[in-house]
Amino acid sequence: MKIIEIEGGRQLSGTIRVSGAKNATVALIPAAILTDEEATICNVPEITDTDALCDILKILNVKVNRSTESLVINTKDMKNVSIEEEYSKKLRASYYFMGALLGKYKKVEMYFPGGCSIGARPINLHLKGFEALGATITNEKNKYIVEAKELKGANIYLDFASVGATINIMLAAVRAKGKTIIDNAAKEPEIVNVATFLNNMGAKIQGAGTSTIKIEGVDHLHKCFHEVIPDRIEAGTYIIIGALCGNPLKIDNVIPEHVDALISKLEELGINMEVGLDYVTVLNSPEILKATNIKTAVFPGFATDLQQPFTVLLTQAEGRSKVTETIFENRFMHIPYLKALGADITIKNQTATIDGPTKLKGTEVVATDLRAGAAMVAAGLKAEGKTTITNAEHILRGYEQIIEKLTAVGAKIRIKEI
Ligand code: EPZ
Repeated sequence: MKIIEIEGGRQLSGTIRVSGAKNATVALIPAAILTDEEATICNVPEITDTDALCDILKILNVKVNRSTESLVINTKDMKNVSIEEEYSKKLRASYYFMGALLGKYKKVEMYFPGGCSIGARPINLHLKGFEALGATITNEKNKYIVEAKELKGANIYLDFASVGATINIMLAAVRAKGKTIIDNAAKEPEIVNVATFLNNMGAKIQGAGTSTIKIEGVDHLHKCFHEVIPDRIEAGTYIIIGALCGNPLKIDNVIPEHVDALISKLEELGINMEVGLDYVTVLNSPEILKATNIKTAVFPGFATDLQQPFTVLLTQAEGRSKVTETIFENRFMHIPYLKALGADITIKNQTATIDGPTKLKGTEVVATDLRAGAAMVAAGLKAEGKTTITNAEHILRGYEQIIEKLTAVGAKIRIKEI
């Protein structure tokens, strides 16, 4: 098991460069099999989720040429084999191979995807979309077989603006016969990045980034080149770390519109920032932070993935703050560990109430999921003394070179195998 050790209480200054977006990359890699030729994707983050998806490409006999932060994916000799549980359970996003293989071969056999324990995370909306396109679904002991004689365009309404369902249905529909409309589609930037990639291959997708996506099915998808957008959640995590202990800390390669909700909440707290064209500099962490409330929402609302690191910042605000999590039912697993570090937090239903400011003192904590792990890193950097984070593998799934990036701006942080 990997553990991260941090000597906290230090001011961080310098520049951190944001990598390619994990939540775009994990959809782009499965989407790449839809081409009949070759797809080149650059700005791919070197994170363990990328490794896990490339392993699945290999069992599908897809040729993957991987160099620093880029992938060349060639499907010439590809085989549509069953994706076994040992591969699919490594990450939730393995489910994008359902839409991609269904879209390409009209048949997919795979096990239910893994992922964080932040909620039940059913895939009913994905399956509803596949059925609307003409597929039948059998599910024996967690193994899904999804197949269709023919995939025909359909009008699909999503009861919830699910990111995964929106992307998965898009993947299944790009080569279906006729027109598909996805209503109440999710509008996250990663969806736009995937739609752009597919259109670069010759797909006909309109409206990505709005709540209505129109897809005209095509027969052939050709060679293309594509770039992963910067990771807005990685960016937001480092901006929050800057607010905790930056003096100053510049986060580079950011699309500011993608972190609008976070920036406005940080301004409410009284954080001094400079927001440039493609960077955010946190000038210093002020003495007094004003308490504020956040409620997570779908994009462009406050990102649920930033709720956990942001809660760390609220422990330093003067007064009572509230955090309401509306997207996932079990996304407060970081809170017991924040309390062990000295935070004063109570939870009632989906709302955490934080009274501050409280001094954080280093101790042993656990990364229960990816963003809870990021919250532990943020808290450990702020806390006086040593913080040890176990299950650090979770963190490496979504933060490329996190040890190197933080060390370069003055953090005393290291990772070791035990
Ligand atoms: C994506 O998860 C992200 N993961 C999550 O990031 C992110 O938190 C989430 O979108 C919301 O923005 C990836 O992109 C790989 P959803 P996804 O479908 O697609 C319910 C991270 O830390 N739902 O929008 O699973 C679901 O249970 C991860 O990087 C259904 O009920 O999110 C949840 O409560 C964590 N049925 C809500 O909708 C369905 O068929 C949002 O899920 C699908 C979803």
